[in-house]
Amino acid sequence: MAKKKKIRKSRRSKEKIKAKKISTTIAREEEKRELKISAIDEGTVIDHIPTDATYKVVEILNLQNHKGVVSIATNLQSKRIGKKGIVKVGGKSLTQEEVNKIAIVAPDATVNIIKNYSVKEKIKVKSPDVIDNVVKCSNPVCITNNEQVSTKFYVVKKDPLKIKCHYCERNMGKDDIEIV
Ligand code: CTP
Ligand code: ZN
Repeated sequence: MAKKKKIRKSRRSKEKIKAKKISTTIAREEEKRELKISAIDEGTVIDHIPTDATYKVVEILNLQNHKGVVSIATNLQSKRIGKKGIVKVGGKSLTQEEVNKIAIVAPDATVNIIKNYSVKEKIKVKSPDVIDNVVKCSNPVCITNNEQVSTKFYVVKKDPLKIKCHYCERNMGKDDIEIV
């Protein structure tokens, strides 16, 4: 009886060793992949962006003249959203307004606040019901394109995004979206 127990125990610990080895290998593989885009020490990482909205996020954050490190990656594999983009911005924290804008083009995005190389906070963006003064109306005769009137849209559908202009009632999809 005692002998049987011992055998079982040693088999179990072997299994444990094996499992540990496999997870270390996976971790190394992930580490290798991660090295493609270097980690940042301080700043913000916007992750889980639909791949075709990556440059819209860059546009929203006005990164053309940013002095810190900016890394942009698109067409990365994501289990959750198929292909995804990531934008890493060193030395920048986002305003609530910027986070709200990102939610419009990337409703599944995660905003990670990085301090001292680790993720200090993870914010899941929330797509709005009304979009004020962020998106241009694609209708050339809309009042917002001809007079000093801020744009306003109602979100009709969140995914894929469908919005309706408050003034001219034009419907727009995610591909028509141009940031103000
Ligand atoms: N990251 C970074 N620099 C750091 C820490 C993290 O660029 N110093 C990036 C990671 O590469 C990742 C994102 O920030 O893209 C979030 O990091 P983390 O929460 O560690 O990754 P996951 O657990 O994969 O996040 P999630 O669950 O949101 O997918
Ligand atoms: Zn309009």
